[in-house]
Amino acid sequence: MKKLIPVYVRVPVIFFIIFGAMEYFIDSGDRAAFIKYPMVDLILLVILLLIIAVEMIVSAVDAIVYQILPEEEKAKLAAEENLKFKESEWFKNLMSKLTRTVPIENEASLLLNHDYDGIKELDNNLPPWWVYSFYACILFAGIYLVRFEILGADNQEMELKKELAQAKVEVAEYMKNAPDLMDEKTVTQLTEAADLAIGKEIFTTNCAACHRADAGGQIGPNLTDDHWILGGGIKNVFHTITNGGRDGKGMVSWKTNGMKPRDIQKVASYVLSLRGSNPKDPKAPDGEIWVEDVPVAEVK
Ligand code: HEC
Repeated sequence: MKKLIPVYVRVPVIFFIIFGAMEYFIDSGDRAAFIKYPMVDLILLVILLLIIAVEMIVSAVDAIVYQILPEEEKAKLAAEENLKFKESEWFKNLMSKLTRTVPIENEASLLLNHDYDGIKELDNNLPPWWVYSFYACILFAGIYLVRFEILGADNQEMELKKELAQAKVEVAEYMKNAPDLMDEKTVTQLTEAADLAIGKEIFTTNCAACHRADAGGQIGPNLTDDHWILGGGIKNVFHTITNGGRDGKGMVSWKTNGMKPRDIQKVASYVLSLRGSNPKDPKAPDGEIWVEDVPVAEVK
């Protein structure tokens, strides 16, 4: 066996197994442990030196033992060393365990009485590797039958469906806690006084110049009436504030100007809360009267 794996293969293999195990067991986040913790490099170096030292000691002991062996033992050892792998005792043992073949010289002992036109039949052993694989298959089939056909465990399709459903729940949960990822599909209208107060502040700072402090309209349209150029309702208003109005009209994209989706949600909710507030001297209505899409069932 020793001859089989030479020292220049054995040492690196052992070293990299230890190296791999360390990387696996040391929790170093997104960087490799040997980069994050220089201590690991030192330990690996010591381990490498140890492996080399052990190899040197073992080979030195071997050399000494060989020197003090009697001549005939030396000859035996040399003969063993020169054996090919397939001729070694170890390999032969393994093969006979796996196959239990009868040597060809003893074939006569297996001969059955059957003789068909000179074709003879041998009663060979089934090779153990085959027999045990067969038993394993029977066991597997039994467990499979009980698990899937009797106890009704999920098949692959069910597993996929469950995982997809779970993923949906997780995505929804994530979106709830990550308002910066909100878009016009997921946005909801806020009604809390605290949120609307922040919305009002944002409006006064950024929007009043064009829409007037009471949103009655000036350069930009009146935002308190039922007429909308680009569509009313939280989703459209969120979209307009995020992406801006028609080219050249003056309403810029507030996303490009660095406004966060959750702030856009608040100012949009504030704007919508002003509906019907009838400011003095409002700008004449622009656009169409907006009717929120109501699901058919609710209309009647
Ligand atoms: C530079 C002037 C200007 C500023 C500042 C401005 N707007 Fe506008 N806004 C406009 C104009 C002009 C339009 C009409 C766009 C069009 O016709 O496409 C408009 C349209 C809108 C609309 C759509 C109205 C409709 O009828 O569809 C909303 C909602 C709106 N603005 C909200 C805001 C909010 C909120 C802010 C502040 C974050 C803001 N605007 C800042 C000029 C402005």
